[in-house]
Amino acid sequence: MTVEIRWLGHSCFTISTGGHNLIVDPFLDDSPVAPVKAADVTADHLLLTHGHFDHVADAVSIALRTRAVVVANFEICEWLKAQGVAEDKVIAMNTGGQVELPFGLLKVTVAHHSSSLPDGSYGGNPGGFVLSLKDRRIYLAGDTALTLDMKLIGIGGLDLAVLPIGDLFTMGPEDSIEAVKLLNPTKVLPCHYNTWPPIEQDASAWADRVRSYTAAEPIVLEPGGTTTL
Ligand code: NI
Ligand code: MN
Repeated sequence: MTVEIRWLGHSCFTISTGGHNLIVDPFLDDSPVAPVKAADVTADHLLLTHGHFDHVADAVSIALRTRAVVVANFEICEWLKAQGVAEDKVIAMNTGGQVELPFGLLKVTVAHHSSSLPDGSYGGNPGGFVLSLKDRRIYLAGDTALTLDMKLIGIGGLDLAVLPIGDLFTMGPEDSIEAVKLLNPTKVLPCHYNTWPPIEQDASAWADRVRSYTAAEPIVLEPGGTTTL
């Protein structure tokens, strides 16, 4: 079964697999680089890594319009419900937990970051996700620093790791190379860069370093671009 992954700029992705459509960290209407608006996306599941504006900006509008099931930490789920998202449309989780969903098994991983919500309220722990789909395993790191936990996340094999490389708020290109070594994925896709000048990076230079220093294949997309596993 193929998995189609489309980068919508920053840390926003759509993932299509087995008739399911997932959207991760929707930041579209206010993103300087997103190729689509929040009103244009369809989803049956919405995955949120943490509470920062550049990850949840369009979560409420998409959740209310599409009636997608939202997977996020407990505190973000409470924030969503306070804005009208139905109780039975949120799945509240926390670090280390996993849940069987119609598209596969989802596990929440550690992320070294912060997670306040746009209104300043407490956003719980930041996280990442490991998605064990029918025959593909994908790691979405979320916003995080390099962490030795990545050694554990790689056990069992990864077909794809999605890593931030923008630096400043997350790990940068250098640390992402160490992350690839720990995770040992077949492919690695960079995100959280080139959204604004402070997180500008040269993705093709990064890809050269991935090829030189790791066994992984770098997949560099433009916003709107798609890769298939
Ligand atoms: Ni963040
Ligand atoms: Mn961010």
